[in-house]
Amino acid sequence: MQERSNTLASDSLQALSEIAFTVNSIQEIRPLLEKVLEIAMDTLAAERGFVLLKSESAPSGFEVKSSFNISDELLADLTGISNSVVTEVMAKGEPVILFETERDPRYNTSESIVLQSIQSIACVPLSIKNQQIGAIYLDSLTKRSRFTNESLPFLTAFTNQAAIAIENARLYESLRAENRRLRDEVQRMHRFEELIGQSPSIREVFDTMTQVLDTDATVLIQGESGTGKELVARAIHYNGPRKDQPFLALFCGSLPDSLLESELFGHKRGAFTGAVTDKKGLFEAADGGTFFLDEVGDLSPQIQAKLLRVLQEGEIKRVGENHVRNVDVRIVSATNKMLEELIREGSFREDLYYRLNIISIDMPALRNRLSDIPLLAHHFLDKYSAKKPGIKGFSEQALEEMRGYRWPGNVRELENTIERSVILAKGELIEVGDLKLPQSLAPIGDQTGLTLREAEQRLVEQTLKDNQDNISQTAKQLGVSRRWLHYKLKEWQA
Ligand SMILES: Nc1ncnc2c1ncn2[C@@H]1O[C@H](COP(=O)(O)OP(=O)(O)OP(=O)(O)O)[C@@H](O)[C@H]1O
Ligand SMILES: [Mg+2]
Repeated sequence: MQERSNTLASDSLQALSEIAFTVNSIQEIRPLLEKVLEIAMDTLAAERGFVLLKSESAPSGFEVKSSFNISDELLADLTGISNSVVTEVMAKGEPVILFETERDPRYNTSESIVLQSIQSIACVPLSIKNQQIGAIYLDSLTKRSRFTNESLPFLTAFTNQAAIAIENARLYESLRAENRRLRDEVQRMHRFEELIGQSPSIREVFDTMTQVLDTDATVLIQGESGTGKELVARAIHYNGPRKDQPFLALFCGSLPDSLLESELFGHKRGAFTGAVTDKKGLFEAADGGTFFLDEVGDLSPQIQAKLLRVLQEGEIKRVGENHVRNVDVRIVSATNKMLEELIREGSFREDLYYRLNIISIDMPALRNRLSDIPLLAHHFLDKYSAKKPGIKGFSEQALEEMRGYRWPGNVRELENTIERSVILAKGELIEVGDLKLPQSLAPIGDQTGLTLREAEQRLVEQTLKDNQDNISQTAKQLGVSRRWLHYKLKEWQA
């Protein structure tokens, strides 16, 4: 007997530590209830069991949420008979242990027990802060594993733990559902699923986008690096009538003129050394679709003239050919330069500017829409925590820190920050320390007296040095694209 109770004690301890672990590890209610039932049944060697939770929609006021070894019919019988143990436990909130049920004067007339000739039953309420949230029911049809009053202390401790876990899981699920609902609601307000934001300035962008979707008007998107210009260009294409036709993009600053021309307009075989076959240009390839000219301010005067012709006449001429071809392409362009300034300097054609800029969209800098930060941060958390699902969110301080930061690299910098913090985070919440936001720019000497361009170059060079010339790292730290960085470095070399 001594030995048996020792085994029970050690099994009980094992079960208690298992349930404590479960509290912290299973967040979804269904697998959690299954695990709770499994541990209880294993520890008491029960043959059958189920977990009930209070439910306002069920007629009896409670609902079986997880069961083992019991058919649905029997379940209905067990929970339906008013005089049964379950009803009493649910009503009084006290545990009931029955052994030799046939001799127990309280229950031997109880239909279900008699009908099923159950030998012993343990039914314990699940309660939290004196509120009853459900019960665990275990029984045995043979005399082999009879429950005794000795099992009660364990069962009580166990169900207390289980109740906390269940309550946490419910809370977690309702928070997640609420989060999902709020986000769906925000998304329903505009149709651009991939574009996150609800601040007035970004809504203005969505409104303009909506107005131009069904037109062929050219759109010029202006804004700082990382504000989402390319994303907007794509969204205009993929939400409009041209969506089944190609969307082609060209980074205008990436090629020398001669190559760029043949890339854009195509060439005839033999037009220049290396032109061994006829080749279609990007404009032809994008026929029927949208052509996205990224960093349009970097186009040379020659290419600007040819582009103007595409816009005015809808015509292109392949390099080395004399006849024109018609193309039907919608042009969306983007720049993070002030084109008006380039026009004043004489490096950008004014007539082209007006052609490109039938509709203009100004992307707000992230520091001017700080209210979108929590929304964006959660969006990126969802994206990057897929492989690390333990992370639930951000600490209040982390959100505060993000709202207070100036985000020189805009949304791209925020995205990179979240990606990195997910990797660094050790707990369930991303903390301030995981964000690794620069407190202030590293000292790079006295910057007064420098032009913006010189300061930009210094900052880039210093950051490159700090990152041992690693382009990806430097781009990440600065919150700019690698393409932008390559381009700038080339520009400064010249
Ligand atoms: N409103 C937004 N919602 C969700 N993600 C966004 C949003 N704006 C930008 N992003 C994300 O931020 C990153 C940078 O966006 P994008 O490349 O469109 O910026 P950009 O303005 O073209 O920058 P650059 O001038 O450096 O080319 C991308 O990963 C993009 O998906
Ligand atoms: Mg871009």
